[in-house]
Amino acid sequence: MRLGVCYYPEHWPEARWAEDARQMSELGLSLVRIGEFAWSRFEPEPGQYDWAWFDRAIETLHNAGLKLILGTPTATPPKWLVDRDPSMLAIDKHGQARGFGSRRHYCFSSQNYRQECQRIVTAMAERYGQHPAVAMWQTDNEFGCHDTIESYSEHARQAFRHWLRQRYGAIAVLNTAWGNVFWSQEYRSFEEVDPPVGTVTEPNPSHVVDFQRFSSDQVASFNAEQVDILRHLSPGREITHNFMGAFTAFDHHKVGADLDLASWDSYPLGFLDMSPFPDDQKRRYLRQGHPDFQAFHHDIYRGCSPKWGVMEQQPGPVNWAPNNPAPLDGMVRLWSLEALAHGADLVSWFRWRQCPFAQEQMHAGLLRVDAEPAPAFAEATQVVQDVELISGHVTKQAPIALLWSYDGQWMHHAQPQAEGLDLLRQTFETYAVLRRLGLDIDIVSPEADISGYDLIIIPGLPFISEASLKRLDASGAQILCLCRTGSKTEDFQIPPNLAPGALQDYLPLKVTRVESLRSGCVETVEIDGESRQVERWREALETRLPARARFSDGAPFWVQEKSWHYLAGWPSGELLGHVIASLALEAGLDVVLTHEDVRLRSLGSLRFAFNYGPEPVNLAHMAPANAEFVLGGMELAPAGVAAWRI
Ligand code: GAL
Repeated sequence: MRLGVCYYPEHWPEARWAEDARQMSELGLSLVRIGEFAWSRFEPEPGQYDWAWFDRAIETLHNAGLKLILGTPTATPPKWLVDRDPSMLAIDKHGQARGFGSRRHYCFSSQNYRQECQRIVTAMAERYGQHPAVAMWQTDNEFGCHDTIESYSEHARQAFRHWLRQRYGAIAVLNTAWGNVFWSQEYRSFEEVDPPVGTVTEPNPSHVVDFQRFSSDQVASFNAEQVDILRHLSPGREITHNFMGAFTAFDHHKVGADLDLASWDSYPLGFLDMSPFPDDQKRRYLRQGHPDFQAFHHDIYRGCSPKWGVMEQQPGPVNWAPNNPAPLDGMVRLWSLEALAHGADLVSWFRWRQCPFAQEQMHAGLLRVDAEPAPAFAEATQVVQDVELISGHVTKQAPIALLWSYDGQWMHHAQPQAEGLDLLRQTFETYAVLRRLGLDIDIVSPEADISGYDLIIIPGLPFISEASLKRLDASGAQILCLCRTGSKTEDFQIPPNLAPGALQDYLPLKVTRVESLRSGCVETVEIDGESRQVERWREALETRLPARARFSDGAPFWVQEKSWHYLAGWPSGELLGHVIASLALEAGLDVVLTHEDVRLRSLGSLRFAFNYGPEPVNLAHMAPANAEFVLGGMELAPAGVAAWRI
């Protein structure tokens, strides 16, 4: 359990560095991330490096006993580089080049920019790769932030054609896969194919999904080029990249496969304000963040790499959401401990000191602009003490797996068939239901090892490979498939045998009709003597399987064949909770209905409780009466954290 902070020595007078380093070390931090935006200082003139100041910054931090995470500066190509080759700029969907003057203005497909990146990363790694203070590298910064994965540049067009040729081999194969006979979309050669942009009405969804797959692969290979250099020149150091929240434009499983530690940047209040949560939740959790949002991402990124952590933890008000409230006292500590309870190897606050200039001058740090402690400083101090009480406990495989794939999300997005329906939302809602039942969850790729689970939930993955289906069947788990699972082929077509496609080998049923329902329109399901609701989506099934629950008109809703279950509609939270609780109880799992503001999580032999609510909560129904507390107690204050021995 390592604690750290993000620091920008280039923003402060050199005379201050030693004091900063001393304070960081005295606070109990062990890691400091530096360098990720400093290209214009590393190389002020083309080919002329200035490392002297960075050498001194590194020595100062090292002398204070701190270890370093060095960020490669490739998210911020300097002005001279852009002017020398403006074709390295990404082009947005309106055909506009991304301008210089903020960050992330590059196109992943520019070979020239890739070479420049390899050059600066090599120079950095040659200089610092073996330095004893360097513990970790971070590649670039937040791939995709500010909507920067897709580019419609000439470089991207050529690279996309190349990618398609590799995938399909012959243009006739592509035409069939995409169904290009429809609306005379057929191509005579790969040279005729453009990115799907600027079309009069919706572009072909197979084209859209392939462009997303291509754009994602560009990110993965861009990252891999840096990783190769760093592994070679800086052996034994960990490599990370900092992912984001609610971001799905590239395949994090693929990028994560090249990393040692998948990290992410957690800004609970900014995310709540920007996300489509209902207004009453935005008001209730204004200063706490949504109770499931952080944990959901912890669990996603735990499934992306051998280790994971939080690289940037919100310390106070941020600058970038429409509204930027201050956290409730105690929340900075709660968010940090919650990450550790989900198995984080690292929690690092962003940033050390609030910066008085430029875009992020209104973003809080652990220190204020005048270098006095901001409120988060005391909470960070408390976390250092808490870690002493909880360290040594490591995360175990959860009893429940939720299957999640980026490719599935792109398919949902390409043709949602209903307002606001997407796989990320369905996965999140399923996750939230599981959490209210007090269950621990792993979120894993369908390609990952899925053995050892009691219950596996597939919240609507449109395509699952036959190999994964075989492994699921052999896993011995109960498997719950939500509607739309198996509804497409890999090329994004309706399966010839209808949905759920290849899944019919295990679940003998056919989806013969689907409909989407506008918000507020519901269908009723009768289950165990109670009426519950289906919303957004309903399917008609043709099957000989007996129904465990039916719609009020008698049509099957929940059918089962051996360990496989299928739901023919999107269940309300209550209905999904009912189905999952039945399956969890049948699998012998402990189900505890939590208070609406409290979430539970086990770490090794500790059980944690987190209060996201603005009022105190008594843990009586969630913890044993004789619980031996390591942190907190039975009365959980707002923003309170408790942990007891299991
Ligand atoms: C992150 C980014 C940081 C900083 C921070 C502000 O998205 O990685 O560089 O901009 O947000 O909250």
